[in-house]
Amino acid sequence: VGGVAAAYDRVAYPGFAFHQTRPDRLAVIGRLHGMRPAPVGSCRVLELGCGDGVNLLTMAAALPGSEFVGVDAASKPVASGTALAQEAGLGNVRLLELDLEGLPGELGPFDYVVAHGIYSWVPPQTRSALLRACREYLAPQGIAFVSYNAYPGSYLRDMAREALEWHLRDVHDPSLRIQRARELMQLTVDADGGTRSARVLSEHMQALLAKNPNLLFHDDLAEVNTAVYFHEFASHAAAHGLQFLSEADLAESRGIELVPELAARLGRLASDRIEREQYTDIVKNRMFRETLLCHPDVELREDLDAAAVRSMAVSGAARPVSPEPRLDAGVEELFETREGARLATDAPLVKRVLVELHERRPEAIPVADLDADGEPDALCAALTRLYTGRLVELWTEPPATTMRAGPRPEASPLARAQAAAGREHASSLMHDSVALDPVGRRLLELLDGSRDRAALAAELSATLAEEGLAPVGPQFEGQLETALQGLAGLGLLVA
Ligand SMILES: C[S@@+](CC[C@H](N)C(=O)[O-])C[C@H]1O[C@@H](n2cnc3c(N)ncnc32)[C@H](O)[C@@H]1O
Repeated sequence: VGGVAAAYDRVAYPGFAFHQTRPDRLAVIGRLHGMRPAPVGSCRVLELGCGDGVNLLTMAAALPGSEFVGVDAASKPVASGTALAQEAGLGNVRLLELDLEGLPGELGPFDYVVAHGIYSWVPPQTRSALLRACREYLAPQGIAFVSYNAYPGSYLRDMAREALEWHLRDVHDPSLRIQRARELMQLTVDADGGTRSARVLSEHMQALLAKNPNLLFHDDLAEVNTAVYFHEFASHAAAHGLQFLSEADLAESRGIELVPELAARLGRLASDRIEREQYTDIVKNRMFRETLLCHPDVELREDLDAAAVRSMAVSGAARPVSPEPRLDAGVEELFETREGARLATDAPLVKRVLVELHERRPEAIPVADLDADGEPDALCAALTRLYTGRLVELWTEPPATTMRAGPRPEASPLARAQAAAGREHASSLMHDSVALDPVGRRLLELLDGSRDRAALAAELSATLAEEGLAPVGPQFEGQLETALQGLAGLGLLVA
C-alpha cells in the first residue's frame, strides 16, 4: 500500500454507519427529482474508499436481496471488514483491496455509488479517479454520493490545521502527533484569548479535543485535506460527465425555500442551480457537503415530484410541544424534533399526521395507509414539505425491523457480530451507529432468537455477575424489558 492509504494501515480509522449514504435515502431523493433509481431491495451498491466496511456492511445487513462491493487501498481495514462480514454471515458483500486509480472495468454497473470522506483526503489525481469511477460504474438511472470539506466554512478547519501542522512539523510518530496536537488544542482552549476571533478558534479546538483521537489523526492532521467551493466541485464533476442532483439531506438544498422571502432574495443573486447552492453555502458558512450526482442526460425536475411520495412510507418523531395538541383548524401547534427541526402549523392534516407518526414512532407507515381525509395530493405535498424541513423521514422501502421486542427477540446478525467483537458501536437496520455499553453488548450477543425472557434474564445476569458488571437486583426483569424495547426502538431487532 502506498500513498495516503498507507496511513490507514498504521492507525485504524473506525468506521460508522453514515445515515445520509443509505441507498434508500438516495432513492427517495432521486424519485422526488423525477428519476427512476433501482429499487433498493434488489440493487447493486459500490463504496469507494470503504475503509473497514462498517457503512457498507450496515447496508448489506438491511438489504439482503442486494449486492454490495467496497474498495479500499489499505489492507488492514479491508481484512477487518471482511472478517466482520463473515462473522455476521453476510454473503452479499465483498470488500476488495484496490486502488481507486487502477479499478478494473468489469466491476460495474452499480445503481448507487458512495464515496464518503475520501474526496478531500486524497491528492488531485485520486480525486479525479474517484469521479471517473462514479461516472464509469453508474447505471443510467444511478446515483452517486460524494462528501467533501467545503468552503467557506472549512477556512475554520484550515486555521486549526495549519497551526497544528506547524506545531507538529518535526513529529512523525502517530501517537505522538495525536498527543502533541492535543496539548496545543488544550492550551488554546484554556488560554481563552478573550476576543471574538480567539473564541472562534478555541471553540473549534474544543470540538477537536472531543473527537476520537484516531479520527483526529486522519481527518484533521492528515497529510492531504483539501476543501473546495461547491462551484469548483460541480465543475470538476461536470468535467467527468456528472450532473449535480441535490444534497443528500434535501433540507441543505431546498430548506431555504421554506422561507419564501429569503429564497426570493437568494434566487435574485443566482443565475442557475449551481450558483444557488454556492450562495446557500456562503450564507450558511457551510463546512461539509454530501452531494449527489447522476448522469448528465438525466432530466431532473425543478420542483419536487410530490406524487412520488404516494408509494413511499413515512416515519417521524417530531414531538408536539403541547401535551394535548388540538387538531382542529385555526389553532397553531408547535412540533419539534430532537435534532432541533421545528414547525408551527395550524393545518389540521399536517397536525394529524405528525401526531400519528409521533405516537407510532419510529415505525415507518405506508403513506397510502395514512388518513388523507379525501385529499391524497394535499397529503403528499405536505409530506414533501415536512421531509424538506427534516420533520419526517421518507422510505421507498421501510426497514425490516420490528418496533416491539417479541417473545424470543432476535438482533440483526451484524449488530450481534459487532457486539461479540467488543466494538463500541452496533449498526441498526435503520442505518445508524448505536453506542454500546458493556451490558448492551452482552445482551445483544444473546439475542439470536432462541431465548425467551427467562433464558435471557438467567444468562445475562450470570454473565454480568461473572464480570462484576452489575448487581442482579429485584428490578432486573423490568430493566431487561426496558432494554429490549429500547433496542427495538433503535432498529436493532429483526422483524
Ligand atoms: C478518511 S478515510 C474514510 C473511510 C470511510 N469511507 C469513512 O468515511 O469512514 C479515507 C479512506 O480512503 C482510502 N484511500 C485513500 N487513498 C485511496 C486510494 N488511492 N484508493 C483507494 N482507497 C484509498 C483510505 O485507505 C481510507 O480508508
